[in-house]
Amino acid sequence: MEEFAHAHKQWKEVVWMSQNTNTIPTDPSVIEAIKSAADERLYNLYPFKKGLFGLPEAILSELGMSDQDVLVTNGAIEALYILNRALLSEGDEVVATDPSFMPIHHQIGLSKAKPVEIGIYKDPYKMTPEEVNEAVTEKTKMLLLIDPLNPLGTDYRRDEVRAFSEIAQDHDLWLVDDITYRDFSDDHTLSAEFYPEKSLTVYSFSKNCGLAGMRIGALLAPPAAMNDIVKFDTNVLSVNILAQKAALASLETKERWIGNVMKICRNNQERIKSAVDKIDGAFLPVYPSYTNMFVIDVNELGIDPDKFETKILYDHNIFVRSGNYVSKKYGPNFVRVSFSVPEDQCKKFVEALGPTIESMT
Ligand SMILES: Cc1ncc(COP(=O)(O)O)c(C=O)c1O
Repeated sequence: MEEFAHAHKQWKEVVWMSQNTNTIPTDPSVIEAIKSAADERLYNLYPFKKGLFGLPEAILSELGMSDQDVLVTNGAIEALYILNRALLSEGDEVVATDPSFMPIHHQIGLSKAKPVEIGIYKDPYKMTPEEVNEAVTEKTKMLLLIDPLNPLGTDYRRDEVRAFSEIAQDHDLWLVDDITYRDFSDDHTLSAEFYPEKSLTVYSFSKNCGLAGMRIGALLAPPAAMNDIVKFDTNVLSVNILAQKAALASLETKERWIGNVMKICRNNQERIKSAVDKIDGAFLPVYPSYTNMFVIDVNELGIDPDKFETKILYDHNIFVRSGNYVSKKYGPNFVRVSFSVPEDQCKKFVEALGPTIESMT
């Protein structure tokens, strides 16, 4: 937490590569939408509960869906919280991975259910249908699919998503499809395409649209499931109206800016790859990444990733994340680096990487 206080206090000087946020500019109309909503004092009112007119429709159209209900939420994290609390109870099991985005596992625990974690810090750095099949027991209630994967950068091919959907269907499981990083994948497949009856699609505006600070996302679920899930909605008074305006403007203009975000991410990951290749003992388990991040394995160098995180932040104002945040078991092996930052900022990281490692070995 000290690192966060330090970084936030001087946030403008810091290169933010720690939380998979996206600081690459998108479209000026997004800022205009926020400003005009503020100028009109739209914030005096509670927003319309079903969402800003046009926003649920824009999310559905973005995903090519029509038969799912949309709940606009305070980020994907709230959508996950609501569904986990609504659908899980004591003794239930959820098939998931390690590494993973651990706050979801914490939410599962709050419902007194148990995440059954498939270790994926090994080739192919993602779960396989065979492993999922083996992990399913009579207690399994849900399969957590994070696609593409935080932190490794792997994504799932169409036949794998189909296989997971079939396993979920065979065992009557909820299939939570966390598509927070979907736009960074070349060829993403939604599980709802194969298993619309019990797929719950979790959408975020934080990474693709660069709106993490706005706290906006959505849950898409079949109407019957949504009826049950919304009983646990933590925010019946709706979501920040400025955030909703920004989200809608982002989707409406996406064609204009998404290509540039992807191009910069590609350049940045190539840049980091060349730098890592020059360091004996460090390697990228997954390359290229199909998210806006990957991990750098520093285990052979004997580097403690927590200390690396602190050192590069305090010495160079670059904020990356220790592997321990995303895996208790494998976390000591790696640091996670997000590269959805302007190219000059990524160059700073590349310049600081070698000297930081040298100073620690
Ligand atoms: C897999 C995954 N799901 C959900 C979230 C939370 O997203 P949001 O900012 O929309 O709440 C994150 C954030 O890092 C994430 O990595």
